[in-house]
Amino acid sequence: MISNPISVQSEQSLLDYNSFHINESSRFFCQVSETGQIQEALNLAKSQNLDVLVLGGGSNILLTKPFDGITIRISNKGIEVLETNDDHVILRVAAGENWHSFVEHCLENNFFGLENLSLIPGSVGAAPMQNIGAYGVEVGSTIVSVQYFDRAKEQFEHISAEDCKFAYRESIFKNTLKNSAIIWTVDFKLSRHAKPATGYGDIAALLAKQGISNPAPADVSRAVIEIRRSKLPDPAVLGNAGSFFKNPVISSADFEILKKECPEIPSYPAPDGLVKVPAGWLIEKAGWKGYRTANCGVHERQALVLVNHGSAKGSDILNLAKEIIEDVRQKFGIQLHPEVNII
Ligand code: EPU
Repeated sequence: MISNPISVQSEQSLLDYNSFHINESSRFFCQVSETGQIQEALNLAKSQNLDVLVLGGGSNILLTKPFDGITIRISNKGIEVLETNDDHVILRVAAGENWHSFVEHCLENNFFGLENLSLIPGSVGAAPMQNIGAYGVEVGSTIVSVQYFDRAKEQFEHISAEDCKFAYRESIFKNTLKNSAIIWTVDFKLSRHAKPATGYGDIAALLAKQGISNPAPADVSRAVIEIRRSKLPDPAVLGNAGSFFKNPVISSADFEILKKECPEIPSYPAPDGLVKVPAGWLIEKAGWKGYRTANCGVHERQALVLVNHGSAKGSDILNLAKEIIEDVRQKFGIQLHPEVNII
């Protein structure tokens, strides 16, 4: 199928394309919404020896300098039903679809399983990349396969969910396929039967407070939206990229030592007998919650989120992140790792 030619801009500001609202430019910029346009954009990059930055919703990156290459923004759209029966539906969703709009579409059509992931900023294509997760659900558990453009083979490939190697904020797209796969569509298998996951403490507490004892998926979605709005800054108002750090996973022996010093520390079991500790708790305990420099800071209601108070450069936020990492390392002996992609 012949695609429409791409339109390439020079020296394009990326301000409107990243949720941190960092004003850095890209030497070249184009949006691709048709399959043939990916190849065209990559051919251009190859012929001019340009680095490539692939952008989805831009909600998980920190730009620290002008990008001296070509930014390719994935803008394809569409939600296709591949299979449907009384038990489940399989949907093929374009990477460029907005994540929360897709979750709303599922709720409206009684396709269940994504309600706990309501209001996560970003695009559908970014969801498998870092296996987005919130309130007890990870997206990997609803994905059956992913279609991506393989830059080395110069063709589209399908990969099964099993081969995606989903783990906490991890997938093959952040490891073996990093920089070589451009996610194009994602296939989800969703239930036709409501099975609300209300085990996460905050959700259970809010539903109980609202007197909802037998919640429908829409109730769970509303609860998640209310909790997120109460804790997390809206990127449209205050630039941020959600959790800046991953929650560190440590050995149970190290956790026991920590617990002796800080008996109140929250923790969650992780695979292989390891223990996950909330980075937000460590950062708050180290005294950073609500900390502010002239133009950036640590959010006052969730210490895991770094914010741009208006005119921050990416390097200001990166320097703040480094200070926090060093302080937490000195105070708790725990190494924090950014979840956000630093460019
Ligand atoms: N906590 C603090 N201080 C803080 C923040 C958290 O003490 O400033 C404590 C809380 O009291 C709670 C624990 O840490 O005991 C966990 O907090 P919360 O439920 O807010 O979750 P989180 O571990 O901080 C993770 C995800 C979020 C997701 C929530 C809810 C990561 C890196 N972050 O945060 O995801 O919304 O759980 O499931 O795993 C994102 O990735 O951008 C994101 C927002």
